[in-house]
Amino acid sequence: MATSREVHLVRRPDGMPVPNDFKLIETSVAEPRENELVVDNLYLSVDPATRPRLTRGQDLNAVLGGFALGRVTQSRHKDFREGDIVQSGFGYRERFVSDGKGVRKIAADPALPLTVYMHVLGGAGFVAYGGLIEIGKMKAGETVYVSTAAGAVGSAAVQIAKLKGASVIGSTGSDDKVAWLRSLGLDAVFNYHSEPIRDALETVTPKGIDVYFDNVGGEHLEAALRRMNSLGRVAVCGMISTYNDQQIGVRNLSAIIYGRINIRGFVAPDFMHLYPQFTEEMTGWLKSGQVKYQETVFEGIENASAALIALLNGKNTGKMLVKLG
Ligand SMILES: NC(=O)c1ccc[n+]([C@@H]2O[C@H](COP(=O)([O-])OP(=O)(O)OC[C@H]3O[C@@H](n4cnc5c(N)ncnc54)[C@H](OP(=O)(O)O)[C@@H]3O)[C@@H](O)[C@H]2O)c1
Repeated sequence: MATSREVHLVRRPDGMPVPNDFKLIETSVAEPRENELVVDNLYLSVDPATRPRLTRGQDLNAVLGGFALGRVTQSRHKDFREGDIVQSGFGYRERFVSDGKGVRKIAADPALPLTVYMHVLGGAGFVAYGGLIEIGKMKAGETVYVSTAAGAVGSAAVQIAKLKGASVIGSTGSDDKVAWLRSLGLDAVFNYHSEPIRDALETVTPKGIDVYFDNVGGEHLEAALRRMNSLGRVAVCGMISTYNDQQIGVRNLSAIIYGRINIRGFVAPDFMHLYPQFTEEMTGWLKSGQVKYQETVFEGIENASAALIALLNGKNTGKMLVKLG
């Protein structure tokens, strides 16, 4: 019988997760019955949203939740063939048997690497696109500030905003990431570890901020609110600074009154009507080289929890992935 290794959460982290919060388990994978298929995962997606679930939502001694890209290796299901490339959300595991529910075939463009469907042409790129256009209501000529700008979502957001005619400012946590963002043509970039965020933002936003694409919350949000123009929009994609159970209060929320600022959180289902348009534009930008991306890849399921810990410590540039097989 085939086997699969999977990562379990065995202890809830106290702050930043550590390796002993996780355990690698070997399980057996049954032969597929009629109307079932077997998927071998090729890549796991490592996502910040996993961290809050480790505190609440993720069961202990159960496979860690998460998304993956895989290949169908056996099929007795009429809708799937051996070799199909599929996306699924069955967690940090190498292999699984499925009745097809929750397994989505992707028609991968042979001119593009498969992994782009896990970031810039997948969920990360789509929330960047919809967050700017639908939620941020970004217009050409406006100033857009994106935090965590060298990550999977952030690096897509800064490039989309540039392509749509905005003046774009990005912040990130290392000088190497600053250098990459500068090479993408941003109007200003700063390392928030090198100087106070509020001082840095004041220097690089002489015309204020029209749209803040927030990936961080806390101190970043407070600093951005100080610089928002009247009728500005804050599109809240994530609040990673709070995910390790560190809630940093934003002390100037009253800025939203006189500035008439709209703050709105969002998830991808809020703007699914934009999906065809996003796919067409992003595919074109990738093929023409107008959008670039980076990946940070850990190898092997045995390193998946290390990849999650590294992501939460800012060790990734672009999308964090775990390559399997
Ligand atoms: N709303 C949605 O549907 C949706 C979907 C996907 C992602 N998100 C959110 O989008 C954000 C980015 O996600 P991603 O997948 O693209 O991850 P990512 O940006 O590729 O990786 C996480 C990055 O966060 C930064 N970071 C970590 N701890 C931080 C802290 N305390 N303060 C500031 N920055 C910190 C690090 O970069 P630095 O070196 O720059 O610090 C790290 O590399 C997250 O908040 C995530 O939850 C939301």
